[in-house]
Amino acid sequence: MTADTTAVIGSPRSTVDSIVRVTGLKKVYESNRGPVEAIGDITFDVPRGQFACIVGPSGAGKTTLLKCLAGLLSPTAGEVVLEGERVDGPPRGMAVVFQEYGRSLFPWKTVQQNVELPLRLKKTPRDQREHKVAEALTAVGLADRGHAFPWQLSGGMQQRVAIARAIAYEPHVLLMDEPFAAVDAQTRADLEDLVRSLWQDLGVTTLFVTHDVDEAVYLGERVLVLSASPTCVLDDITVDLPADREQVDTRSSARFAALRTRVHRGIQDAKAGRRTPSEQPA
Ligand SMILES: Nc1ncnc2c1ncn2[C@@H]1O[C@H](COP(=O)(O)OP(=O)(O)OP(=O)(O)O)[C@@H](O)[C@H]1O
Ligand SMILES: [Mg+2]
Repeated sequence: MTADTTAVIGSPRSTVDSIVRVTGLKKVYESNRGPVEAIGDITFDVPRGQFACIVGPSGAGKTTLLKCLAGLLSPTAGEVVLEGERVDGPPRGMAVVFQEYGRSLFPWKTVQQNVELPLRLKKTPRDQREHKVAEALTAVGLADRGHAFPWQLSGGMQQRVAIARAIAYEPHVLLMDEPFAAVDAQTRADLEDLVRSLWQDLGVTTLFVTHDVDEAVYLGERVLVLSASPTCVLDDITVDLPADREQVDTRSSARFAALRTRVHRGIQDAKAGRRTPSEQPA
């Protein structure tokens, strides 16, 4: 994680070290019922190492945005720049964790083999692969399940395998699209704490899409609220909570309540078709 990006001198949006820059991003799908303008015009930068959450109403284009970031979809206009390079296909420095862990793991491969696969594709030497896989499985608490098959594990454990696979790859940017939507509440809380502690330990820039306002505030250093389609950034909120978070204490603090109110209001504004916040925050 050493590559540096150079800020563009004189650019109004130049920041010291933006690892991701999204500029004027627009995505129109062609469908048999005519064009669908999923993303209207999105612009934002992500500083290296930040944990940013993205929320917005259903159909706002969150998944479309992540797919454009991951180079899985080409934008209709605008661009995504990762570490100074325009994204025009899946970039090496990114890993993605999707909601559907059941479909993202290969059922005929063991946990270990699933986690190892991207490292093989990256042509990581075998001894290093073994070490990185073991380390990643230990980090997600599955050191002893390497020889199991995904279908022998619970949903939460399968999602931990997907997270281990992403971190073993040592991405510079980790994209997550509603990764905990399909697990029960207690597992979800555990996975939230796991992802935050991995982020704190590894320093990987993380973009996390969720429809859960409380989850966004609990996890993020920043929450981007997207408008309804055709999508723009409706609000960009700094989460100024202490770095050490705890499920009960953090969520019951007054600052947490104020932040979640602002995010909620943003989503209500989005649903009402607004493109800027209706009220200035306290
Ligand atoms: N392949 C496609 N072809 C045509 N339209 C699409 C396609 N994929 C998504 N869309 C449309 O683009 C818009 C944005 O979809 P997207 O899945 O990005 O939203 P989302 O914010 O992720 O929604 P959700 O919160 O439900 O996951 C929606 O109107 C959707 O119907
Ligand atoms: Mg989605």
